[in-house]
Amino acid sequence: MNEILYKQAEEILSEEDKIAALCNLTALLYQEVPNINWVGYYFYRKGKLVLGPFQGKVACTKIDVGKGVCGSSFASKLLLNVADVHEFPGHIACDSASNSELVVPLLVNNECVGVLDIDSPLFNRFELADEELFLAIAKLISKKIAG
Ligand code: SME
Repeated sequence: MNEILYKQAEEILSEEDKIAALCNLTALLYQEVPNINWVGYYFYRKGKLVLGPFQGKVACTKIDVGKGVCGSSFASKLLLNVADVHEFPGHIACDSASNSELVVPLLVNNECVGVLDIDSPLFNRFELADEELFLAIAKLISKKIAG
């Protein structure tokens, strides 16, 4: 796991204003994580996942629970590491350059409140170390949202 990046994420999330902290975290990840073309959040609002702060191309604003990679991760509360998004049933293509995707649920008191979504133009981009890093960062985000 990239300890330096984890520490930087922790530092950025120590900003008291939640929106400012969440926005800057996407900027940090977009700058520092190699070979990604989109990073951001979808938050659960009124029965759907709604686009939150992000970096990358314009994205779909609402996703149904259980749909696409984000909706599936949200519904199952599981991290989804998709090596080839074109093989994922119901994948929602926001940027045609995306070929692999990692989605991490954001859990507060074991309830899913949203997801952290990272897209890559490479196939099979995300390794175990990335899963560990983004799971750890998702915990920090959840703490920030809950606090
Ligand atoms: N690909 C996602 C949709 C969100 S965008 O990648 C930003 C999905 O299938 O849920």
